Amino acid sequence: MLSQEVVFERIGRYGVVPVIALDSADWALRLADALWEGGLPIVEITFRTQAAAEAIRRIAQHRPEMLVGAGTLLRPEQVDSARASGAQFGVAPGLNPQVLRRAQELKMPFLPGVATASEIEQALSLGCQWLKYFPAEAMGGVKILQALWGPFAHTGVRFVPTGGINESNLAQYISLRYVAAVGGTWIAKSDEIAAGRWTEITQRCQNALRIVAQTRSAAH
Ligand code: 3PG
Repeated sequence: MLSQEVVFERIGRYGVVPVIALDSADWALRLADALWEGGLPIVEITFRTQAAAEAIRRIAQHRPEMLVGAGTLLRPEQVDSARASGAQFGVAPGLNPQVLRRAQELKMPFLPGVATASEIEQALSLGCQWLKYFPAEAMGGVKILQALWGPFAHTGVRFVPTGGINESNLAQYISLRYVAAVGGTWIAKSDEIAAGRWTEITQRCQNALRIVAQTRSAAH
């Protein structure tokens, strides 16, 4: 298993985490290949479908070059299942101390979800500095992150905003230096996966990475 340091460095380097709900584990490897071909060797498979654990297992076993994580971990036993399947990191939409504790016991790098100052405080007190900010656009987008940054800048917190992000607003988020990466389903929608539209998924990875690279080089 990779250390938290390695996992977070890679997430930050890529800048984009494709969030995927897979209806069948049979699509897992083809999906991983489409993302890989697009230059994005990372995937977060959400525990919203029965196929999640098996999909993670197949990617971890057959595509070890991919950084595979598990999302929507709402219960401690899902953390166990994700880790046993080979997930290198975990993500949740909210901050559940029981889920977080299980991830810490298993030494699984974990990004709990936060949306308010109180939740950021709680996450920091539970030992987390990398936080999914969810649902980013609905909460106020870049503006709320800028506002929240004031009191938390000195803590070393880093955000991975998710929810309503796509090619049109990706640059706004990435331009904030405390945004390590963004997450989103726009890279590969369930219906595209079911229809096998792999070329479009690969293309969307390339577009996203181009935006990340251009935005970061403009900021320096
Ligand atoms: C998530 O679970 O992270 C969100 O559902 C992703 O939000 P999006 O579909 O707006 O990208």
